[in-house]
Amino acid sequence: MHTIDQLKRPLKDLRLSVIDACNFRCNYCMPAEKFKSNYKFLKKSELLSWDELFLLTKIFVDFGIEKLRLTGGEPLLRKGLADFIKKVKNETNIKQIALTTNGYYLKENAKQLKASGLDRLTVSVDSINENTFAKLTGQHETLPIILDGIKEAINVGFSPIKINAVIQKGINEHEILELANHFKKKETILRFIEYMDVGTINNWDDSKVLFSSDILSQINEFFPLQPLEAQYYGEVANRYEYTDQSGEIGFISSISQPFCQNCTRARVTSDGKFYTCLFASSGVSLRKILRSHYSDKHIQQKLIEKIADSWAKREDRYSEDRHLKHPKQPKTEMYQLGG
Ligand code: GTP
Ligand code: 5AD
Ligand code: SF4
Ligand code: SF4
Repeated sequence: MHTIDQLKRPLKDLRLSVIDACNFRCNYCMPAEKFKSNYKFLKKSELLSWDELFLLTKIFVDFGIEKLRLTGGEPLLRKGLADFIKKVKNETNIKQIALTTNGYYLKENAKQLKASGLDRLTVSVDSINENTFAKLTGQHETLPIILDGIKEAINVGFSPIKINAVIQKGINEHEILELANHFKKKETILRFIEYMDVGTINNWDDSKVLFSSDILSQINEFFPLQPLEAQYYGEVANRYEYTDQSGEIGFISSISQPFCQNCTRARVTSDGKFYTCLFASSGVSLRKILRSHYSDKHIQQKLIEKIADSWAKREDRYSEDRHLKHPKQPKTEMYQLGG
């Protein structure tokens, strides 16, 4: 069961958000002034259950999904994650499962995640300066906890670990070399991400974006780099290696070099909405089908039809069309879509 969209792109990656809540308040995602401590995230009953997530995953694998990425909010806030990973690894033909986390609960979970069969880990670290980190994430005295978590994850066998760093002008742009220097080793692959106009809460504007070419030239001056070939069709990051053989670094350039042409990613929010683009205004509710009062077989058939139909109609290429200055359309927030 394979499907291609209107631009002939196959469905290859699934990104499942397992929870919308997060313990961080990153300024570009859940700014603290808007997400107070009493903010009402989705109720447990609104989240897809692990069984519902498993059924969806199985169906997507039948569609040809090779990589599953689990995201949030913060996925390690949800109990049962490792058991879910184990079940998907043991009972489906998925090739790879990856997890994106802010790292806060990594130290105590690393071992269990490794044992569950999780293949790869990505941790978001936008700064390794305590003050900037606190300013960016709303979390004080937290950076050492994250760095300890990464260390533990390396110790239990998750190496190399990808580190995502979003650079915002005027906030952490002066720390590029410090970040590069810190993660310049075989065990970690730092990826600089151009700050994107996801959602509306962050008041993004293009004056806050630092292009990858500027980041790269800064790094190259101190730590010479050479380009690497893409590892797979549709790879998001442009990869480089340090010429002194001390490891790899990547650049994700959705603003300056959009990669919609071979975008094979589907996203499902924690309440079960299926999105065909990070910038889509809305998604179709798979939860409605999952919770309908039909037989299991009928539900499965309906889900297959809905996913096939949505992907077949897909024309999304938001980042390539960004310069057209879209009329103000509603957008979904990053903490709901998981990046
Ligand atoms: P692997 O190659 O499997 O490690 O994953 P990846 O390179 O896709 O990395 P990851 O999933 O960690 O994505 C990193 C960041 O790139 C995300 O958090 C987003 O900010 C951005 N990104 C990923 N996918 C897309 C996409 O489809 N569109 C856009 N515009 N940005 C994306
Ligand atoms: N632009 C680029 N990356 C973003 N992320 C969250 N919001 C944005 C944005 N506006 C990244 C986070 C994390 C991943 C899930 O998405 O830093 O690494
Ligand atoms: Fe949480 Fe990630 Fe959003 Fe930061 S970017 S608030 S860590 S979900
Ligand atoms: Fe894919 Fe949409 Fe991102 Fe383009 S903007 S790469 S279509 S998710």
